This record gives sequence, C-alpha cells and structure tokens, in this order.
Amino acid sequence: MAAKIQGKCQVYLLAVPKRCMLMAEILDGVALAKRIKDDIKKEIVQKNLEVGLAVVLVGNDPASRIYVNNKKKDCEECGISSVEYIFSESASQEEVIALIQRLNSDKQINGILIQQPFPSHIDVFTVNESVSPLKDVDAFRADTVGRIAVGSYGFLPCTPAGVMELIHSTGVPVAGKECVVVGRSNIVGKPMALMLLNESATVTICHSRTRDLGDVTRRADILVSAAGRAGLITAEMVKKGAIVIDVGMNRDKNGRLCGDVDFEGASKKADYITPVPGGVGPMTRALLMKNTLTAKSLQS
Ligand code: GUN
Repeated sequence: MAAKIQGKCQVYLLAVPKRCMLMAEILDGVALAKRIKDDIKKEIVQKNLEVGLAVVLVGNDPASRIYVNNKKKDCEECGISSVEYIFSESASQEEVIALIQRLNSDKQINGILIQQPFPSHIDVFTVNESVSPLKDVDAFRADTVGRIAVGSYGFLPCTPAGVMELIHSTGVPVAGKECVVVGRSNIVGKPMALMLLNESATVTICHSRTRDLGDVTRRADILVSAAGRAGLITAEMVKKGAIVIDVGMNRDKNGRLCGDVDFEGASKKADYITPVPGGVGPMTRALLMKNTLTAKSLQS
C-alpha cells in the first residue's frame, strides 16, 4: 500500500510567463484536467484495464447531486465504469457503512467515493474510516492523510493534488518559496500545507483566528485560499508576482459562483491566478480519476 507515486508524477506545463503583461496568466483548470483525463484514458485503453468507481450519495443536497453527475461524466470520458448508490436523507449510518463494507470486498470496484456533506446524524469520521485504505480515492482516511506527512502514500487528496498540478503547470519551482494556505480543513488546508512542505516550501497556515490575515498573505509567493468566504482575499492582500490559487466555491450576492479571491483586483498583482469556475474544480475531479486508476494498480 505504501507505494510512493510522487516520483513518477508527470508535470503538465500549461502556462508560459508573460513578463511584460500587467494582467496575470490565467491557469485554465479545464484544459489541464482534460490533458490529465486524456492520459488516463490512453493508459486504460493501452493496458486494456477494467476500472470501477462507486459513487455514494446520501440525501438531497442539490450541489452534491451536480458534483456526482460531473464525476460520472468524468468516468465516462476516462473509460472508468461508475456505479451510483443513492440513499435518502433519513438513511442510517449503519446502512451506509454496510454498503461500504460490501463495496470494500467487491472486485469490480476499485475506488469508493462518498459525496460530502452528509446529513447531520451521520458521523463523517466513522464513515470515512470504513472505506478500505486500498479504495480510499478521496484520501480522507486519517491514516491516508498521515501518510502524506511522512511522504509515503498511495493516494493524495484530490483538491490539494489538483492545486499542486496547477502550481507545477506554471513551471515556477516550489522549493524555497513562501507559501500561505488560508483554511485548515482536514480535506484541503492541512494536506495542502503538507504537500507544499514535502516540496521544500516555507509554509504558513492561516485560519479564522489569524490576527492580521493580509500581513501574512502579502508575504506569499504562492497563495492558496480555501476558506470558503467570497471576497476574503482582496488585491492589497496579494504580493506582486504571486501565484494565486482559489479553492473557494461560494455564491456572490447575485447568486453567481465565485471563489474567495477578488479575481479582478488580484489578477492585476499576481503573475498567475486561477478562475472560479474553471480553475481548481475540474482539477479535483481529474485527480479523482487518477486516484481511481492508482487504486486499480494498488489492487492488482
Ligand atoms: N464534497 C466537496 N468536495 C468533495 C470531495 O472532494 N469529495 C467528496 N467525497 N465530497 C466532497
């Protein structure tokens, strides 16, 4: 299980620096995700693999429904079979775990994804821990996250892994850079910081109790915001020439999808910036496909 895949990772170069431009280079997550998915499909076809992902949804969250449908489409594009399991809002934790245990021993299923958030009566930690470590394609198990800390892992969590791909696509080396991560969630902020640290960055994690957020973010050569608050990162909080990665997925006052970063303002300061939508979101899904293929090889 302790297969280390980091060394084999291919770096996809997407952006070319444009030193004379005032506006930042936009990091196109849709284009980069497509290249990753095309490579996955090629490998599946060339090796004649049968790869399966189980997608589990509990309840009626409309956003989760959309995410699950998008993940199913990605599976189709990559030649991965997906099987969907939908529970009603009132399903018990025991029912959900019983399904996961069945999927853990199903040879047709290589990866198990349980879409979050769950209804409040279901304990996220207990459900995540019930997924087999060999099928934990979300990389949400505690031991999977712990493996990142020691640099020996099978899976990386999809969103931070997608962010690393976006950063690598700039061609800017991470080693020695000041990196600031805003947000300390178990699924994005904490693993993100570990992954940047593993690449020899100097890393700071900020959160809701950080005293002067701008004071810290202005030091960032690479700024990753995963706070989930529209308008949190303004232009004056961004260092000139920075790489700005926006993981936020919020609604503005007009109901439109937006990130944490003031895109217009920050793109006048940054060298590279991700849009929302079209930045990190498609990359998260592409890395889920990559993890599912990795799961297949770990189980073979
Ligand atoms: N809900 C929001 N993002 C994610 C994700 O990456 N995986 C799962 N399982 N649920 C989510």
